[in-house]
Amino acid sequence: MSEFSHSGVAKKEYVQTMFNDVAHRYDFLNRLLSCGVDVYWRKRLVQTLEIKEGDRILDVACGTGDVSMAILKQHKVHITGLDYASKMVELATHKATALGFHNQVKFMQGDAEALPFADGFFDKLCIAFGFRNMGHYDVALREFYRVLKPGGQLAVLELSEPGSIMFKKCYDVYFTKVLPKVAALLSRDDAYRYLPESVAHFPPRQQVCTMFGAAGFQSVRYEDLTFGACSIFLGTKT
Ligand SMILES: C[S@@+](CC[C@H](N)C(=O)[O-])C[C@H]1O[C@@H](n2cnc3c(N)ncnc32)[C@H](O)[C@@H]1O
Repeated sequence: MSEFSHSGVAKKEYVQTMFNDVAHRYDFLNRLLSCGVDVYWRKRLVQTLEIKEGDRILDVACGTGDVSMAILKQHKVHITGLDYASKMVELATHKATALGFHNQVKFMQGDAEALPFADGFFDKLCIAFGFRNMGHYDVALREFYRVLKPGGQLAVLELSEPGSIMFKKCYDVYFTKVLPKVAALLSRDDAYRYLPESVAHFPPRQQVCTMFGAAGFQSVRYEDLTFGACSIFLGTKT
């Protein structure tokens, strides 16, 4: 029995309010609850994208901007970060200013399912821990395809159900029992019950690849990280 809605408009509205409410504790809880592994996962996402100097990159569901910052620490590119929750956008903007990246990145509020950009505008599009939160995966993927240039790359970093059975047993105890209790002491308590439930409802890896293909992406593949606790999905617009 699900506590939360896992598709459609109700999910979108819940997710937007929830991320606005947890925004001020989001970075701290990410580092604490993942023991810092989230930083490594984002670095792997950045390495996976074949970024070239001058690329125009869209960081969808940018949150507080950690993927954008990870890219800008290594590459001279132009980034647009877009997120549905305005509080996350505010924090991302402050972070970019504090790190001196404000001339290379612009953060804005917006919906991944209705992107306010022209067709073929971006060289790369990335989304970290955000795709699972979309109300309509197919609509979002069609938008990602539309705003990419031919030859442009999509990279999705997302939490997954671990493949290793031994690891999964320990991970499940931590993810469904320990994490929601610890997080409830520091943030909105339902947010960290939504998290494991949303991962359990996220389609299996092969199905995600099929959805990429249905949106038009080619050369679709995925790579598991950390015993499959996280996966990077890649696709190219031909
Ligand atoms: C788990 S956070 C990930 C943030 C960031 N990418 C990171 O690596 O920490 C998920 C983000 O997805 C955003 N989001 C959810 N649905 C969205 C949508 N339809 N359009 C844009 N952003 C969305 C949320 O507001 C939230 O900031």
